[in-house]
Amino acid sequence: MLMDTARALFADDKGLLAMDESNPTCNRRFERYKIPSTVDARRAYRELIVTTPGLGECISGAILYDETFRQETSDGRPFLKVLTDAGIIPGIKVDAGATDLAAHPGEKITEGLDGLRERLRDYFQMGARFAKWRAVIAIGDDLPSRSGMEANAHVLARYAALCQEAGLVPIVEPEVLMDGAHTLEQCRKVTEEVLRNVFIQLNCQRVLLEGLILKPNMVLPGLKCAAPATVEEVAQATVKSLWRTVPAAVPGIAFLSGGQSGEQASAHLNAMNSRAMARMPWALSFSFARALQFPALEIWQGKDVNVTAAQQALLHRARCNRSARRGEYSAAMETKVV
Ligand code: 13P
Repeated sequence: MLMDTARALFADDKGLLAMDESNPTCNRRFERYKIPSTVDARRAYRELIVTTPGLGECISGAILYDETFRQETSDGRPFLKVLTDAGIIPGIKVDAGATDLAAHPGEKITEGLDGLRERLRDYFQMGARFAKWRAVIAIGDDLPSRSGMEANAHVLARYAALCQEAGLVPIVEPEVLMDGAHTLEQCRKVTEEVLRNVFIQLNCQRVLLEGLILKPNMVLPGLKCAAPATVEEVAQATVKSLWRTVPAAVPGIAFLSGGQSGEQASAHLNAMNSRAMARMPWALSFSFARALQFPALEIWQGKDVNVTAAQQALLHRARCNRSARRGEYSAAMETKVV
């Protein structure tokens, strides 16, 4: 069943929609548009997303946050039912966020293993078929440390084994952050080292590689790096780091967007799929939050009258990314309605 779920999440060139922002993160994103930080505003926003007509054409799975997992539309339909009726498989974020790693200044460790077995069992019973856990790795002077990488990889593997025991496909997300002035090459080296550690630990914890999804960062220069990289350079560096570290048994890779714009993320994914697809053993897909949602959030601004236009913007980004999976995305798609 794990392998069937993993396959379904990559089928038909569809991808994943991450809509699992924790309440503090969601509120921070709302603040920019003066949208109130309330349960109902978050519910209304997530209703907009899950009821987007046609979303299931491009999206195979949606990652929810616990609050959203239990919510309903204003006319009383559980979000889980709306999603499954649209052919979208529900998933759940199960980590409890990142906190400072003791004795490792500047490094984080993700928490949430306590009681995880019981929570996974409950989520499965409620209808989740996959889960997500994010670890964050910063690049800096002497960072990341070997022990910081190992600690995060170990926890990711423990989480993944528990998910598979519960019948849920684990999304394993080690995110090398874009913050900083590091170069593309530095990001590539760190990404490779992180992924190597992750697969060592996944093997140690007896995780079935065929029944997991890897959600890595793309290899990018830091936000403060003076040397920008071309689309081609990003695609090549990303594919190279994956090629060297990810076993062929893994069914697919679904990138996070990490702070790239919607257009950048689509262009990078497209370049990887158009040049490299023939020799890649795994599907190269997307599991974006910001790069899918931000144009819609900017249009919505918390106002009912903007719901339809916001849904169109979300669908547009989802369609662009489905095209990028096929290597058929082009900048021209951004200027005409698809
Ligand atoms: P972004 O695509 O905004 O990086 O988010 C993906 C995600 O799920 C973060 O955990």
